[in-house]
Amino acid sequence: MNARRFEGKVALVTGGNSGIGLAVAKAFVAEGAKVVVSGRNEANLAAAVEELGASATGVAADTGRLDGIERVAAAVREFGGGRLDVLFCNAGIGGFGPIATISEQKWDELMNVNVKGVYFTVQKVLPLMTRGGAIVLNASVAAGKGDPGGAMYAASKAAVRSLGRSLGAELVGAGIRVNVVSPGPIETPIFANAGMNEQQVADLKVAWSDRNPMKRFGTPGEVAATVLFLASDAASYITGVDLLVDGGRGSF
Ligand SMILES: NC(=O)c1ccc[n+]([C@@H]2O[C@H](COP(=O)([O-])OP(=O)(O)OC[C@H]3O[C@@H](n4cnc5c(N)ncnc54)[C@H](OP(=O)(O)O)[C@@H]3O)[C@@H](O)[C@H]2O)c1
Repeated sequence: MNARRFEGKVALVTGGNSGIGLAVAKAFVAEGAKVVVSGRNEANLAAAVEELGASATGVAADTGRLDGIERVAAAVREFGGGRLDVLFCNAGIGGFGPIATISEQKWDELMNVNVKGVYFTVQKVLPLMTRGGAIVLNASVAAGKGDPGGAMYAASKAAVRSLGRSLGAELVGAGIRVNVVSPGPIETPIFANAGMNEQQVADLKVAWSDRNPMKRFGTPGEVAATVLFLASDAASYITGVDLLVDGGRGSF
């Protein structure tokens, strides 16, 4: 296999300053791509860019808002010299709890990042994408499961899965493939970022590992390998799929 499948290509990884996004950005850089990473936390962004090296740049922006997304698109245009080959739409937040505990504000915040942000990121960077381009959207195995306390998050990710299919159909004529990756539980800061304390995260890790057919969480690197496959020419006849990277959780 060519170890530098993205030589000369430009990739955007939203939410590329942490967790899965950072692992994907590292993998793209290792395979020759120039990468733009986005996120709100400027300290994390600076650390990520430092780690990624000269092939990467960062843009601080809230991709739950149109003005933030436009800033990201402008940074991509500048850094990529007017072109974008790969978009990994990954920025997202968790939000869990019984229905009685979810406020309208939390709902709007989560849907703005996880759903609106994905749709309009695709819209705003599309003019930079060329034939042969690839878009990968990050959904979740949660999209296809019913879990108590998971309704809001799962609904947002079901919307992402749906966007993958419809946008795939819409862009196939432009030579742009759109696929979805649906991770199972992955070891990242997402649970702490969603407001869980250390004990709650530890308990969740035990419970979710136990119910997983492989009895463990996945790693960001395992998701990155799948994203790079879907973005690469090895997946040239694949569009509109939702690929689970979940230890079997969504299937049995
Ligand atoms: N970990 C899992 O178990 C799992 C499973 C399935 C799917 N996923 C999905 O994987 C994606 C990445 O999550 P992760 O697990 O890697 O968690 P993470 O480490 O918390 O990463 C989330 C990323 O999204 C960015 N982000 C969040 N809100 C944003 C906003 N309003 N504007 C711009 N960027 C924003 C964060 O950056 P800032 O905080 O700096 O803004 C961060 O880079 C999410 O879409 C998540 O739903 C995760």
